[in-house]
Amino acid sequence: MPRLSADQRHTVAFTLNGLPVDGVAEPRMLLSDFLRQTLGATGTHVGCEHGVCGACTVEVDGMLARSCLTLAVQVDGASIRTVEGLAPAPDRLSVLQAAFRRHHALQCGFCTAGILMSLDAFLKANPEPDEAQVRDLLSGHLCRCTGYTPIVRAALEAAAELSAQDTAACQEEPAHA
Ligand code: FES
Ligand code: FES
Repeated sequence: MPRLSADQRHTVAFTLNGLPVDGVAEPRMLLSDFLRQTLGATGTHVGCEHGVCGACTVEVDGMLARSCLTLAVQVDGASIRTVEGLAPAPDRLSVLQAAFRRHHALQCGFCTAGILMSLDAFLKANPEPDEAQVRDLLSGHLCRCTGYTPIVRAALEAAAELSAQDTAACQEEPAHA
């Protein structure tokens, strides 16, 4: 196979979970491969590699994207968030991640990173979802292990907990004179 010359490769630089990163990518390299192989960010999983299973879902500039359908060169200069960026600290899970653990919402875990990314964005936009809305969101993700019910329970419980936290935070805000 012919090697690409230097002018056919591109330096790609972006922010990954708040930190600057860069690497060299061939023009057709997928973002999923760039994250996993070049940057070693293996939390993002790759399943179908053609946009169907949702396992590779990440956030690009605040919008969900299938990293197997995105070229690395397309995200030069962007802000990328992956499952590694969900936890508030290395020794703490996010509310959603903790609910997944309590409800056994993962088995092999192959689908989990993508589902967490989608649900994290969904719960920000829909703080009080019902079960039908959560199931509708999950229709964009394939899970071969759980039967989805524990994932739905975890999502609804996380939504309730996040909503209670928001209410408590509002009540703690000092009244303006
Ligand atoms: S690996 Fe990207 S959608 Fe399946
Ligand atoms: S936990 Fe195995 S595919 Fe979802």
